[in-house]
Amino acid sequence: MNKHVFIKTFGCQMNERDSEVIEQLLSQSGYIPVPDAEGADLVILNTCSIRAKAEQKVFSLLGMLRKQKEKQKQLRIAVCGCVAQQEGKAIFKRMPHVDIVVGTQQIYQLPDMLNRLDQGQTDREISCDLEKSFIIPPYQKLLAETQRGRLSPAPVEYKKFVTIMQGCNNFCSYCVVPATRGREISRPVADIVEEVRLLVDDGVKEITLLGQNVNSYGCTNSVADKATTFADLLCLVSGIPGVERLRFTSSNPQDLSKELMQCFKDLSNLCPHFHLPAQSGSNAVLKLMNRKYSRELYLEKVDALRSYCPDIAISTDIIVGFPGETERDFEQTMTLLEQVRYQGSFSFKYSDRPNTRSAHFDNKVDESVKGIRLQRFQTRQDEISLERNQELLDRTVEVLIEQVHETSIQSRTGTNHIVHFPFHSVCAPGDTVKVKLTHAGRHSLNGEFVSE
Ligand code: 5AD
Ligand code: SF4
Repeated sequence: MNKHVFIKTFGCQMNERDSEVIEQLLSQSGYIPVPDAEGADLVILNTCSIRAKAEQKVFSLLGMLRKQKEKQKQLRIAVCGCVAQQEGKAIFKRMPHVDIVVGTQQIYQLPDMLNRLDQGQTDREISCDLEKSFIIPPYQKLLAETQRGRLSPAPVEYKKFVTIMQGCNNFCSYCVVPATRGREISRPVADIVEEVRLLVDDGVKEITLLGQNVNSYGCTNSVADKATTFADLLCLVSGIPGVERLRFTSSNPQDLSKELMQCFKDLSNLCPHFHLPAQSGSNAVLKLMNRKYSRELYLEKVDALRSYCPDIAISTDIIVGFPGETERDFEQTMTLLEQVRYQGSFSFKYSDRPNTRSAHFDNKVDESVKGIRLQRFQTRQDEISLERNQELLDRTVEVLIEQVHETSIQSRTGTNHIVHFPFHSVCAPGDTVKVKLTHAGRHSLNGEFVSE
């Protein structure tokens, strides 16, 4: 008999992709995904620990699940992802109703762990080793089997993530990722190409290549084909028939090469959007963060990128209130924003994390000061986003349709702008159509369908 699993994903695209893999793995053990925890036999929290807040969310949800388990004794609860990796068996101590703890690189063990529990061999399961080899090959095979055998006939999705590397070697002083995801390792080219082919065969139009630091693809291990740079990989994937749109994330500014910039000129399906995390506009703070570029180098990269691709939309990540960040340092982040005029950004208050160097730094910034700085940054960013969106008005752009509702359609441009337009019967999800932009908001635009 089929069982029901509810998977709740927190955090980044890596986790989203891992959750898909978990779903596929479990579908082979007869689990059907359900949209909420109520009525599920198994609840999986795929967790994020990038900031304290993300982690708190996980523990508060676990607290609520305790109540459900009191009523539904056979409910199984599994914690996966970065909090599982970071906290390990301490999770059982704090949350005794949790049955399974699985680290970031052990998710493929989930079916076996569930089996052992079902057969009464154990009453708790934990596996949190960080492996030294790439974990994707078994998933890739499973993915192929799932898709070819239609083990779990999921609705067609038009955008998919493909993991090209895992882990990180940068050791930014604030970041948990090296601790939760291990050392950087690249996936073999052939596996990536094979997976993209499978996805395209299944109707996927847009591929996003995923890694913590895609620019160093192929540099850091023995498995990957050393001769293949990230730019080479992009060219290869771009040439796979059926890949209508290609994206990637994330890049580190110091490794952004001319070859990669050239790709935006040469590859017509490479979307003109670049997420280039700056973190701060102050050289003093960048140094404390162990970021390996200066403000000047960052700006040079932005200029060069725009010379290769004038319409490219650039977005960023910013941390405010890093330990030791003075008012002058913060002003430099504000002037960086003015100089680059990002299309959009993700900005966060600095948060102390376990096993990071900056957790031990002096001169922590007051929460209230962080709040004021964040608000200032976000208010100005919103104004700039609106101005930039207004500059696009009256243009006719190509969009990929993501969702068709009763009266409206949601779509996305290559530059990653969300565009809404009135329902039109010829439009279906996954179609690429032309839309004339008629109204600009801060976070999205409106348009009209243009028939040809
Ligand atoms: N505190 C606040 N923000 C953080 N980020 C990473 N670590 C921290 C932290 N300790 C932000 C960075 C990163 C994004 C994914 O999260 O901006 O690029
Ligand atoms: Fe993703 Fe980092 Fe959060 Fe882990 S800690 S889920 S790698 S953002």
